[in-house]
This record gives sequence, C-alpha cells and structure tokens, in this order.
Amino acid sequence: MSEPVTTDRHWLVTGAAGQLGHHLVRRLTAAGARVTAMPRAELDITNGEDVDAAISRLRPDVVVNAAAYTAVDAAETDEATATAVNATGPGNLATALARHGGRLLHVSTDYVFDGTAHEPYEVDATPAPRTAYGRTKLAGELAVGAALPDRAFVVRTAWVHGGPGPNFVDTMLRLEHERPTVDVVSDQVGSPTWVGDLAGALIELGHSDVPAATLHYVNAGTASWFDLARATFALAGADPDRVRPVSSAQFTRPAPRPAWSVLATRSWTDLGLTAPRPWRAALAASISARAG
Ligand SMILES: NC(=O)c1ccc[n+]([C@@H]2O[C@H](COP(=O)([O-])OP(=O)(O)OC[C@H]3O[C@@H](n4cnc5c(N)ncnc54)[C@H](OP(=O)(O)O)[C@@H]3O)[C@@H](O)[C@H]2O)c1
Repeated sequence: MSEPVTTDRHWLVTGAAGQLGHHLVRRLTAAGARVTAMPRAELDITNGEDVDAAISRLRPDVVVNAAAYTAVDAAETDEATATAVNATGPGNLATALARHGGRLLHVSTDYVFDGTAHEPYEVDATPAPRTAYGRTKLAGELAVGAALPDRAFVVRTAWVHGGPGPNFVDTMLRLEHERPTVDVVSDQVGSPTWVGDLAGALIELGHSDVPAATLHYVNAGTASWFDLARATFALAGADPDRVRPVSSAQFTRPAPRPAWSVLATRSWTDLGLTAPRPWRAALAASISARAG
C-alpha cells in the first residue's frame, strides 16, 4: 500500500515507540514527511503542561495519538492509571491543539462496544464498554470530542498485529517454534488488522481534508482467533492443523474478552478514503514484511 506523500504537513506522533507509533513514524519518514516522533520518554501525554509546551513549540499540523495504556487485564486493577493515559492524555492533546491549531487523529478500540452484537458495529452504535480499558478509551473519545470538536478524528480499530511489542501473530509465530500444538479460542470473532495498513490509513486520513468524524478502520472480513492462528501457521509454512480450537471458557482472564469485535468500515469508505484490503492479504504482507 502507498499513501500520498505529505511533505507539506508537520506530523507529531505520540507514543512513538509503540506498535502503531513505530509504523507511523517509519512510513511517514519513508514518504518524506516532516515528522516529530515522541515516545513516552520524550512526551508523557498525561502531563498537560508538557503537552501544551510541546504543541506550542512544534506547532504540528497533524498529531497522531498512538500513546495508550493497552494492558487490558492490568487496567481492571489500575483503572486510575489507564484513565490518565487513555482519557486525560488525549484530552490534554485536544486542549493544546484547540489553543495552538492543528488536527488530532486519536486511535480508539472495539472495546468501547459490549461485544455481544451479531453484525458489524457501525460508528454510531451505542458504546457500552464491559472492561476498565474500554471505559477509559471511551472517556478518551469523549474528551477529544469535547475539547476539539471540529478538528479531532477518532479512529477505532481492532485486533492490531505486526509489532514491535506483544501481539497475537508474533505470539503464534513463536509458539509454532516452541510447541507441537497450540490451543486457540474459536468463539471470539473480530477484524484482524495489520498495523502497517492502519498506519497507512491514518496517514491518508491526515493528508485528506475530510471533516472531523468518528471512523472505523480495520482490515476487511472476519475471523476467529483460531482462524487467524491457522492462517498465520499456513503463511509461515507450518501445518495449520497443529492449531486446535478451544472455547473461551477454557481461558479465564481478569477482563472479559468480547465475543464479537467486528467493525463496519462504511464510515471510512463513504468519505472516499481507500477501502481496507482483506485481512488475509494484509496478514500475508505482514509476514513477508517480517521476513524482509
Ligand atoms: N493492539 C491492539 O490490538 C489494538 C486494538 C484496538 C485498538 N488499539 C489502539 O491502538 C492504539 C495503538 O495501540 P498499540 O498496539 O500501538 O499499543 P502499544 O504497542 O501498547 O503502544 C502504546 C504506546 O503508548 C506509550 N505510552 C503509554 N503511556 C504513555 C504516556 N503516558 N505518554 C506517552 N506514551 C505513553 C507506551 O509506552 P510504554 O511501552 O513505555 O508504556 C507505548 O509505546 C491505542 O490507542 C490502542 O488503544 C490497539
């Protein structure tokens, strides 16, 4: 995938050392864009004064907030920290941009929904988070909308893979080496999304002049974790039958996992933005990108 070169705009990426931040900075740099990458060590988004000073000094045209507290289980017992990062932090960015100019692309999650639907969630579906992580991410969406209504985009995504850092596909590639068989849940369905495609999509959005909106971006099609694991094994040249289906009841975790995490992307394509490709094609690109 390629996206328009954005040499005329100055981009600031927060959380630049995370999975999405890493890919955003790499792609923006490769496209010849002006980009300032700020990992947590350089900008802690929970510190409102630091955020205001950075935005005031750098005057970015587009800020992509890739910073987040993403430890879904840990958030259950540390909701205050998750709230600071996922709600107060994005609010700080939106407030600073409202004061100094510039647009915000803020990334959110399928966890704002209750995960009990049977058809893809549209952007205007009613949020009903069932986890602390989901509550804090929803609070972040509301904070950016309140502080920067005309220049803040909320882009919800799901099942992001590609690394660096922990992600399902890398875990499967590791387990393929370590174990003869791997048990994977087959009763949770979602929208696997390669971080490379998500980064490209955000760059396209930031380069466009579409009006502020809440949008969904995920790769096309649906899969269970079992389907995603089998496809990963097959693409790695391993026997997919080494992946065995199990039910979620066999894996109890502190935060409940949604049974249905499929997001509709009509909001995205209706704006004339590039339609996401199927998740299997994106997974293949992701695995060959690791090999390269
Ligand atoms: N991964 C998924 O499957 C998934 C699914 C749906 C939505 N999303 C959303 O997609 C976005 C990107 O996720 P990701 O997978 O790239 O997550 P990630 O790999 O966990 O990256 C998040 C980054 O934010 C940094 N960070 C944490 N607290 C910070 C703070 N106070 N100030 C600045 N940076 C801070 C983290 O640094 P440290 O490592 O030092 O803490 C990390 O580098 C998030 O908004 C997430 O909610 C992800």
